[in-house]
Formats: sequence, structure tokens, C-alpha cells
Amino acid sequence: MASAEYKEEVARRPLEPLIRWAGSKKKLIPLLKANMPKTFNKYIEPFCGSACLYFSLRPTKAVLSDINKELIVSYKTIKKDSKKITERLLGVEKCKTEYLRLRELDPSTLDEVERSYRFIYLNRFCFNGVYRTNREGRFNVPMGTKTGNLPTPAKISDCAKALKGASLIYGDFKKTLKYIEQGDFVYLDPPYTKEGAKNRGEYGHGSFNYQDIPTLISYLEKIDEKGAYFLLSYSCDSALLDLLPSRWYKLELSVNRHVAGFKQHRSIAKEVLVANYELASL
Ligand SMILES: C[S@@+](CC[C@H](N)C(=O)[O-])C[C@H]1O[C@@H](n2cnc3c(N)ncnc32)[C@H](O)[C@@H]1O
Repeated sequence: MASAEYKEEVARRPLEPLIRWAGSKKKLIPLLKANMPKTFNKYIEPFCGSACLYFSLRPTKAVLSDINKELIVSYKTIKKDSKKITERLLGVEKCKTEYLRLRELDPSTLDEVERSYRFIYLNRFCFNGVYRTNREGRFNVPMGTKTGNLPTPAKISDCAKALKGASLIYGDFKKTLKYIEQGDFVYLDPPYTKEGAKNRGEYGHGSFNYQDIPTLISYLEKIDEKGAYFLLSYSCDSALLDLLPSRWYKLELSVNRHVAGFKQHRSIAKEVLVANYELASL
């Protein structure tokens, strides 16, 4: 293979996400890929989290957005200068004292490298990749046991390359509307909510909740009006399904879940894919 072709092939190779993330769609990637539009212009993911579909697809033009500031600051820092992050992580190991030290820090007082280091460290070594905060917005997840190691320099460098074509936006999902144009593909994976569910600070206080469902549906309507495609992942037991226009397509799925992250508490969850184009299934 010629060297330019080889480079192109490497640049397109599917990647694993950089971070651990509760609610990640890693196991559903083949199904999501089978149910995407065949062609599209930009890729847009307003609730990106670990962005596992994005890293697997590696589209050339994209907008990734999330309400989690630490996540977006870290992606931005890696994209801008991955070497600084690699150097900061050099020789660093899993250590309870360091975990607790970092957890106590107010991230807004740190420079972008230290802030990203803190996020990557806590994400790697916390319980099950959960991001939860208290009412004051302080990360409060305990350290985990089976966490694996910090990302390698090669992994960080791959992630930086994959992020080159992405605009990274911090904020509420509605902020992404202005970037959506005809022929774009929007993949949405908001937190699953239920009426009356207690807010325990999952994904941070102020994140998407039951009251936001009508706003999400009007956002989907706007995507549709713009002539862009959308694919939404959601739980089946939600009021959302009753509010969807009948012209949109739905595909119900049974997904293996570990309740609260514990392997011994397996369950089958009913989820649904919703799109404004015909879905294929597997
Ligand atoms: C289920 S996770 C997405 C997981 C992602 N698909 C993956 O594979 O990792 C939901 C994400 O929505 C983000 N989020 C919650 N409320 C939001 C809001 N109002 N606007 C934008 N993002 C939000 C959370 O921070 C979280 O990263």
C-alpha cells in the first residue's frame, strides 16, 4: 500500500473511546452503525459523553457537545496539545491519596492541563466511570477497584488526531441547533429519565431530566425541518415515546444491563432507537 493510502487508512481506523463513561453505547456500536444514514455531511453529537460512536466512525467534520465542562475542557486540551497531557500523566499511578487530593480540588482554579489531568485521573480510577456531583457541583464518586490503567501516550495521541475535525462545545444540547444543516447526521443519547425519579446528581446537577422531554422533541422537530437526519437512543419505558410524531421510525431493542454497575445484578433493559428515516436493524 502506498504511504499516503496507508496514512489515510490509519486515520480512518475505528478507535475505542478515551474515557470510561456510565451509559456509554460501546456495546451497541454495530447496531448504531447499521442504523445510520448511508451518507451524511457533518456528524453532530449533542450529548457526547465518551463519544464512542464518534471515535469508532471518525468522521472528518463533526460537532461534539456536552454539558460536562470538565469533559469538554479535556477534549479541547488534548486536541490542542496532547503532548502536555501525555507528559503530565508520565509515571502517574493509581493511588488513593492522589485520587482524594484531586477530587477535593476546585477544577475552575486549575489551568487547562491540570484540569484535564484531574478529569482523566478521576474518570479512570472512579467507580464504574460514573460522573456524579453533589448540589454544589463537586465530583463525589468513590474510587473504584477494577478500573484498568490511565490512557497510554499512543491512545492520547490517537484521540487528539480523531478530534482534529471536531468542534467541541460546552453547554446544553440546544446550543448545537445552530450548527445543524441539511444533510447532517445528529446522534442523540441523552440521560434516560423517568417521571418522579430522584436527582442523585448523575451526570452533574442540572443535567437533562424528565421536564426536558418536550424541549428535546421540539429540538428533533427542528432537525427534521432543516432536512438533517437524527437518530435518538432512549429507554422504552418513557413518556417520550407517547409524544413522538407517528411519522418517525422506531426500533425496540433488548439490552443487557448491569444494575448499578454490579455484574451479579444483570437485567435486560428495553431501549428504543428513533429516527426520521427508515431504520434497518441488524
Ligand atoms: C448517556 S450519556 C451519553 C453517552 C455517550 N453516548 C457515550 O457513548 O459515552 C449522556 C450524556 O449527556 C450529557 N448531558 C446531560 N444533560 C445534558 C444537557 N442538558 N445538554 C447536553 N448534554 C447533557 C451528560 O453529561 C452525558 O455525557
